[in-house]
Amino acid sequence: MKKIAILTSGGDSQGMNSAIRAVVRTGLHHGHEMYGVRRGFKGLMNDDFFKMASRDVSDILYRGGTFLQSARSETFKTPEGQQVAVDNLKKRGIDYVVVIGGDGSYRGAQALIKHGIKTFGLPGTIDNDIPLTDYTIGFDTTLNVVTDAIGNLRDTMSSHERVSVIEAMGRHCGDIALQAGISSGVDAILIPEVPYNLNDIAAELKAGFDRGKSHSIVVVAEGAGNAEEVAKELKALSGLDTRATILGHIQRGGTPSAFDRVFTSRMGHRVIELIDEGIDGVALGMEKNEITYHTFDEIFAGENTINKKMYQVFMDLV
Ligand code: F6P
Repeated sequence: MKKIAILTSGGDSQGMNSAIRAVVRTGLHHGHEMYGVRRGFKGLMNDDFFKMASRDVSDILYRGGTFLQSARSETFKTPEGQQVAVDNLKKRGIDYVVVIGGDGSYRGAQALIKHGIKTFGLPGTIDNDIPLTDYTIGFDTTLNVVTDAIGNLRDTMSSHERVSVIEAMGRHCGDIALQAGISSGVDAILIPEVPYNLNDIAAELKAGFDRGKSHSIVVVAEGAGNAEEVAKELKALSGLDTRATILGHIQRGGTPSAFDRVFTSRMGHRVIELIDEGIDGVALGMEKNEITYHTFDEIFAGENTINKKMYQVFMDLV
């Protein structure tokens, strides 16, 4: 029997709950003791642990957000903060920590490993910006939320013969904008990974309206620009009527998609198998539909970029 603690950290994402459920239920089935930590690394420092039974993770599979709550902690970045957390873990005899979060949370997980704590990472972020996994938790759900939002905007833009400039999240990564752009057949995407020229885009939009189009959609990744400014500039350059919509945190909510529920269930299950196999200090992900794992060093050294082929698909279909 091992004692295993689980926490969620950084920006929440749809599917974190189903990942927690999978780790906890599999852990209990394999005879381990499971602990929840409230509010991420803050909870480790505040000694905010609770023992979890199977019932504690009932009814969360299909809920967005994270019932363990999430937080970003500056204190945990300091050696003093980390020591407090490590002392709490040792005092409680916790053998393993499972961290669900994005890049910043993985740095925290790496810090625990350096203090001798056996730690796992699960890629919890809507941004799809973690190397060595094809997907991150919540990305697919967010893609569906953004696709639905673009559909709603298309209706009204079409009635009023306008250009909709829509800002998607993603921090420094353009994947949400790119893939939502493909799924929605938009006219242009602006992403940080590819240089763009607003003069060219304005000319193409204008040509589209001249050919009889009733609307146009431009998706801007937040890492590539600001929708209000882009809309203003496109209006000035093309003379078309533009409207900006910043989708914001609506993208992080909603019930996780079937894909995110299955993906997280598989990864959560695999964490416990790895513990039973004597493997730790790794972050999990999915590559070519297989659940895989890599050391945090490998992940930090990995390339964080959009799928170039995917970008070509967009360009060839536009
Ligand atoms: O990393 C997830 C994310 O939603 C980014 O896409 C976005 O830039 C950021 O978090 C927003 O952070 P906050 O919720 O702190 O405003």
